[in-house]
Amino acid sequence: MTIDSGTPKNATSPSRDPLQRLRDMREQSLVGGGEKRIAGQHAKGKMTARERIDFLVDEGSFTELDRFVTHRCTDFGMEDQKILGDGVVTGHARIDGRPVYLFSQDFTVFGGSLSETHAEKICKIMDLALKVGVPVIGLNDSGGARIQEGVQSLGGYAEIFWRNTQASGVIPQLSGILGPCAGGAVYSPALTDFVAMVEGNSYMHITGPDVVKTVTHEEVTSEDLGGASVHNSKSGVAHFATSDDKSCLLLLRKLLSYLPLNNAEEPPFVETDDPSDREDEALDSIVPADPQKPYDMTKVIDRIVDEGSWMEVQEGWARNMLIGFARLGGRVVGIVANQPAVLAGCLDIDASEKGARFIRFCDAFNIPIVTFEDVPGFLPGTVQEHMGIIRRGAKLLYAYCEATVPLLTVITRKAYGGAYDVMASKHIRADVNIAWPGAMVAVMGAAGAAKIIHRREIQESSDPAATEKQRADEYDATFNNPYRAAARGFVDDVIEASKTRPYLIRSLELLRTKNENRPVRKHGNIPL
Ligand code: HXC
Repeated sequence: MTIDSGTPKNATSPSRDPLQRLRDMREQSLVGGGEKRIAGQHAKGKMTARERIDFLVDEGSFTELDRFVTHRCTDFGMEDQKILGDGVVTGHARIDGRPVYLFSQDFTVFGGSLSETHAEKICKIMDLALKVGVPVIGLNDSGGARIQEGVQSLGGYAEIFWRNTQASGVIPQLSGILGPCAGGAVYSPALTDFVAMVEGNSYMHITGPDVVKTVTHEEVTSEDLGGASVHNSKSGVAHFATSDDKSCLLLLRKLLSYLPLNNAEEPPFVETDDPSDREDEALDSIVPADPQKPYDMTKVIDRIVDEGSWMEVQEGWARNMLIGFARLGGRVVGIVANQPAVLAGCLDIDASEKGARFIRFCDAFNIPIVTFEDVPGFLPGTVQEHMGIIRRGAKLLYAYCEATVPLLTVITRKAYGGAYDVMASKHIRADVNIAWPGAMVAVMGAAGAAKIIHRREIQESSDPAATEKQRADEYDATFNNPYRAAARGFVDDVIEASKTRPYLIRSLELLRTKNENRPVRKHGNIPL
């Protein structure tokens, strides 16, 4: 796989005709590590770096940069092994007519490993993207640091990490993981906003199976250590799992359709046939009368937002909390919702962290947040306490408190205890708070409350069970409804569930000009 300064190895010398020389070099730059390695890539069910770009972007819109870059390594006989482009294809293109910068690592060239020059190419497009305010999409397929280069490669990674951090909250950064992504290299995608992985053909881990075996004597495959399903169900590292390269790339296209180009823009408006004043009577009975009965909050969301616009994020992880994008009247919103169908919708560590990071993304990128609330409280237990639910649950509270985008909250059923405060309550500056008629806004459930405040009376009663029930019923009648909160203005209105869509769309329209500032500071200190 040898090219010297872009001259095909089998040519005795570069053509003397400048045009011919350019054409030869351009042609050579397209083949990466050569046909055999391209066939190897295809045999694994993977596309090449260039095929991925072609599939991802609008036809004919890709402009490549730095196709003639080669590495500078002179150790281990590398002088004779220069490949045009050095293992990464970079440039800009359009997706749905909107500009993006992107890089796509070429596994056919030294396993897509990152040399100093490979890193410089990525840094160049990141710098440009930040300068012009355009998202960056990174397609990762790499054996990690170019081992022949040593610390130059590590320096290259650090340059990328630094740029990921500077770009955070300024331009959206999306990562597709379509092959290996291991060692410290994982921290670049980890610093980006969204990570989509391909099932069976991609993995992310800090140390591979061999190191794990040596250190802990555990036998584990790359897939079980850091495959798409692990990171989409257990660790929360990834946001999407897709079945193959194409579905991963289509997903990235779709995700981009909800995002603004940068933090000074609004997300794109999409015309909808779904009427803004559409009411939906099914919503009036979607919440079971029995407060202990679960229901699926995704169905609630689906019925309210513009038809077909709900795109769930991190579907398989911390399923007691739902996050995702949707549109209401054509305008993008971020949805955060408790999921009563999983753990009764309790908040726990993972749910808090999942919600917090998404809220901060939406807040950074001018995406209003609609919260659907049905939460019985925080998940009790030593596991949660010892793992730091105090410190980690505080992230969700902090994220809501610092958000200045429009915040709209719909209490569908329970809003209990501290979780009532946390889930975008009026007190932490939500703009619009409404409740459905069956909502229960209280410190806790009636049974628990009665046991505590009437303990002595229940103990001393001739029929403790009857007394407990009577007191619980009283508590229920007094507090387990939305009207105490409404009487204080903590909810703006109690509405029929069927009318939620028109209410939210009207409110969003009004809140478009919301402008709220926070005290000037270097940055806050979110509990991490
Ligand atoms: C140089 C590499 C390479 C690397 C692979 N290649 N990884 N060259 N540096 N890191 C080359 C191989 O030598 C081979 O060249 C070609 O790429 C394809 O690799 P294969 O091993 O044949 O492919 P496959 O069997 O699919 O295995 C892929 C792989 C394996 C699992 C990624 O190559 C591998 O384990 N590579 C090393 C991974 C690693 O330890 N990287 C450093 C991690 S530390 P030929 O010429 O034979 O085709 C790190 C630190 C980052 O990245 C720190 C940032 C802070």
